[in-house]
Amino acid sequence: MTPMSNPRSSFKMTAQRDDALASAGTSRAAVGKVSATDVSVFYGDKQALFDVSLDMPDRMVTALIGPSGCGKSTFLRCINRMNDTIPGARVDGKIILDGEDINDRKVDPVLLRARVGMVFQKPNPFPKSIFENVAYGPRIHGFADNKTELADIVESSLKRAGLWKEVADRLQAPGTSLSGGQQQRLVIARAIAVSPEVILMDEPCSALDPIATAKIEELIDDLRSQYCIVIVTHSMAQAARVSQRTAFFHMGAVVEAGATDEIFTNPRDTRTQDYITGRFG
Ligand SMILES: Nc1ncnc2c1ncn2[C@@H]1O[C@H](COP(=O)(O)OP(=O)(O)O)[C@@H](O)[C@H]1O
Ligand SMILES: [Mg+2]
Repeated sequence: MTPMSNPRSSFKMTAQRDDALASAGTSRAAVGKVSATDVSVFYGDKQALFDVSLDMPDRMVTALIGPSGCGKSTFLRCINRMNDTIPGARVDGKIILDGEDINDRKVDPVLLRARVGMVFQKPNPFPKSIFENVAYGPRIHGFADNKTELADIVESSLKRAGLWKEVADRLQAPGTSLSGGQQQRLVIARAIAVSPEVILMDEPCSALDPIATAKIEELIDDLRSQYCIVIVTHSMAQAARVSQRTAFFHMGAVVEAGATDEIFTNPRDTRTQDYITGRFG
């Protein structure tokens, strides 16, 4: 039996969640910018997530950690409905963004993905100029009335992504001509340009060297004041450095979630303890 198919362990998880949020000083009424309840995901006959419930607060970084294959990316993809694009994938349960059920028929997934931006492990600039990479979203969503406004959005997005100084004199160069770390910041600027509320990051530093990684971590810390950020990382050190809340996934279930300090210094579950001390994963 999987851990989360047992109703009692599910109950325990909810209780732990409430305790952790209370100890983090968060009122129960306003816990999640994004709130997932009993989310299960199936790929064909295979179940990859089991009744995952998790609150991801605004203006905080929530880290998703756990061994490879435990469902972190699958969960992240639920939050902007990217699983909709995978043939045979089915999502059960509820995900609420600002009081709205994102799987409601009224919700347009394209608009949702502007509100919930995503950054992947491998930087994926469009085969276009630096300028066009950032201008594309605001243009198709009609955010700018004229060229000046569009240029302003591009500049402010690049500034917020900490890339402006490095690219201001070569906005027409291809996005792909940048270094890996710069490309990742370009992709973040592209996400920011459409004024998202949530930014999802799936191992955004895994393909980067330590210096580029440090820059992205600094950027995440800056962005935290304005967004709800959810980051998957296989680096415990990174989770500890950049996040305020952490959820430990194991075999498709959330074993434990709470304030990052608590999870790393005083885990309640032996599986969390074993993972963060490097005994498996
Ligand atoms: N597109 C897919 N089709 C079928 N199975 C998938 C797909 N994506 C992920 N899975 C399976 O779902 C489980 C969770 O995968 P994933 O969410 O990628 O884990 P993680 O990101 O924690 O490494 C794994 O068993 C994986 O093989
Ligand atoms: Mg993954």
